[in-house]
Amino acid sequence: MATGFDNPVGFIGIGTMGGMLIDAFLRAGTFRPEQVFIHNRTPQKAHMMAQKYPGMTIASSNAAVAQKTQLLFLCVKPLDFQTVLKEIAPHVTPSQTVVAIASPVLLQHLAEQLPSKLIKFIPSLTNLSHAGACLLTFHERIPGDEREQWKQLFSAIGTPVEISEAHTRIASDLSSCGPAFLSHILSQMADAAVEEAGLPRCLAEALVVHMLDGTARLLMQEGLSLQEIQQRIAVPGGITQQGLSWLSDQLAGVFHRLFQTTHAKYAEDVEKIQAAFDDR
Ligand SMILES: NC(=O)c1ccc[n+]([C@@H]2O[C@H](COP(=O)([O-])OP(=O)(O)OC[C@H]3O[C@@H](n4cnc5c(N)ncnc54)[C@H](OP(=O)(O)O)[C@@H]3O)[C@@H](O)[C@H]2O)c1
Repeated sequence: MATGFDNPVGFIGIGTMGGMLIDAFLRAGTFRPEQVFIHNRTPQKAHMMAQKYPGMTIASSNAAVAQKTQLLFLCVKPLDFQTVLKEIAPHVTPSQTVVAIASPVLLQHLAEQLPSKLIKFIPSLTNLSHAGACLLTFHERIPGDEREQWKQLFSAIGTPVEISEAHTRIASDLSSCGPAFLSHILSQMADAAVEEAGLPRCLAEALVVHMLDGTARLLMQEGLSLQEIQQRIAVPGGITQQGLSWLSDQLAGVFHRLFQTTHAKYAEDVEKIQAAFDDR
């Protein structure tokens, strides 16, 4: 079923993530443009995507995407889900699979309105380069053997990792928000190098980017752990050890507070969505 997927595929919401996923899957050869049906609230974004991939179909409505496809990605923001679900629900059947990419929209919310098989998929911008994790939570309507086939499909654009829905937020913080958090930290390192020592900004940025690339290779290709990298560089009494010790004091509790912040916003979003679903 999932490997060499030949059935029609739909994307509703062609924003940052919807567009990224179309690019990633098409470049991986998982889907061909002729299989893909798209719809976006603002038509221009769909037109630009279809121009990029001749053969792709712009459907006249969200309902039309649901009618024509077997696998359907919902890539709208959490508070837009209710509108989309109302439009597509009359057309979705139990044989279809619907993939939702919004972390605060619970599978239970979707199952109440759609008879289809359901997957929650939290992408990461890193999937654009076919790297990083694809966080997957399967609804009980998808049996175990079928889950393996879906994981294989997602493996074209990242490493599929099955998580329980209870871990959606924390796993997303690491996998999906993580590249933004890490980029922010690296950007601050480059700023400080410019301000403290007058290094040209472009050189500072180039150095942190090469450092990130090299560190990722040590971890992924050489099999070093995060701890081993620190141990190998920080010789006792040396400069790195001094820096690490200072950093460790300064960062105490920072990431706990970061995750408390994201979790508080998530709880707020889940509550708003629950209210929207209760009002339907
Ligand atoms: N950004 C990330 O790194 C990331 C990572 C993981 C998950 N997510 C999740 O991905 C989802 C989309 O995020 P995003 O960053 O891609 O947002 P985005 O750029 O705002 O894209 C959302 C798209 O949905 C379209 N849309 C809204 N309502 C619609 C409707 N009723 N029918 C059809 N299209 C509709 C919007 O159209 P308009 O052009 O009219 O606004 C927009 O193009 C969110 O649920 C987010 O939580 C994002």
